[in-house]
Order: sequence, then C-alpha cells, then structure tokens
Amino acid sequence: MTLATWTAVDSYFNDLLLPEDPVLTAAARRSEEAGLPAHQVALNQGKLLELLVRIRGARTVLEIGTLGGYSTICLARGLPADGRLITLEANADYARVATENLANADLAPRVEVRVGNALTTLPSLAEEGLAPFDLVFIDADKPSNPRYLEWTLRLTAPGSVIVGDNVVRGGAVADARDTDPRVRGVRKFTEMVSAESGLSATAVQTVGDKGHDGFLLALVTD
Ligand code: DHB
Ligand code: MG
Repeated sequence: MTLATWTAVDSYFNDLLLPEDPVLTAAARRSEEAGLPAHQVALNQGKLLELLVRIRGARTVLEIGTLGGYSTICLARGLPADGRLITLEANADYARVATENLANADLAPRVEVRVGNALTTLPSLAEEGLAPFDLVFIDADKPSNPRYLEWTLRLTAPGSVIVGDNVVRGGAVADARDTDPRVRGVRKFTEMVSAESGLSATAVQTVGDKGHDGFLLALVTD
C-alpha cells in the first residue's frame, strides 16, 4: 500500500460522502496563503470530529491548538445553536486567520478564540467556571501533551470525550528509543491515559492523503 492508494481511497469515499465544502476549502486556502503549516485535519477526519460532537450531544467543546480554525469549524458544526466552543491558540497570527475563517463559516457567535500559551489559558478556564467540557480535542504542540492531558482531566466530567490528534507520528510512537520530543510527548500522553483508571480509551492508526498518523479516543468514565 502506498500514499497513492491511500489518497485514491480517500477520494473515493470523500466524493461519495463529503460533498463540496466551500467553507473548509476556503479555510485551508486562507491558512496556506497566510503561511500556516499544513497541519489541519483531513476532510474526512474533520467530519469524524463533527460526528463525535453530535454523537456525544456535546454542548461545550474545548480545542487545544486552533491553527487556522479548520478543525474548529468541524467541531463547531456539531454543536447545537446555543452550544459553545472555546479554542486555545498560542500564535496570535494563527488566531487571526482562524477568526477570519470562523466568521466566513458563520460560526463566530458559537466560538471563542483565546490567544496565549494553553498552559496559561487552561487554568483560567477552570477559574472562570467554564468546565466541564463535553468534548476536548487536543491538537497543539505534542511535547506538551502530558500537561494538556492533566488539564483536560480537570476540565472534564464522567461522560466527557477526549480526542488526541497525531499520536502515531508515521509509526515512530512504537519506538521507545525515539528522542524526538513530539514522539516522547505522545508516548507519555498515552502512558498517562493507560494509567488513568477513570478513562476508557483506544487509539486508531489512519492513512490517507495526510500520510500515516492516528488519533486516541477516550471516554471519561469516572
Ligand atoms: C503536526 C502537528 C499536527 O497537529 C498535525 O495534525 C500534523 C503534524 C506536527 O507537529 O508535525
Ligand atoms: Mg493535528
């Protein structure tokens, strides 16, 4: 199996299941034009996020790592009209692009983009009494994943859903000797999920036009 096959399979399913989406296409284009890294979720993975929000019946969503707001749009689409999404972004330029993309998606009233290092903004969410969140999407700098999980556990409640993006890293996650801080971050994150008795979790590898990666899905059970 090669990237060409994975891309062809993505195209087959996306052509049938995911009709033209001018809002997401424009969001990706605006992000690219602004020079953001092309790290947004794939189209089909974005739809998975929307469906998870809906399946959970989530009314409050937290995203750690906004980038250009592509996954933010997907998550927010799954919310009811009175739902709320807070998304945290360290880079003010990225946050500006995301704010434009959310306005173009007519989702700005449902979404708050908070600029600043998430390790600073996460404590303020707790202090402001905004928890618990029904779903948390962790998709920021991978070395900080262990800290993001600690905060996520404080900001969720039984029944909350946690999704961690990019836990496979082209397969490197399986190599205990890998010294890349991003790989170490996702390994430590996974070990912490494993050790947490109040979480029921799985991880799924993905291939497609974004290559080989995967996500971790956890349910807060108690
Ligand atoms: C990287 C980060 C992401 O969130 C992603 O979706 C893909 C790659 C990275 O840091 O390499
Ligand atoms: Mg990601």
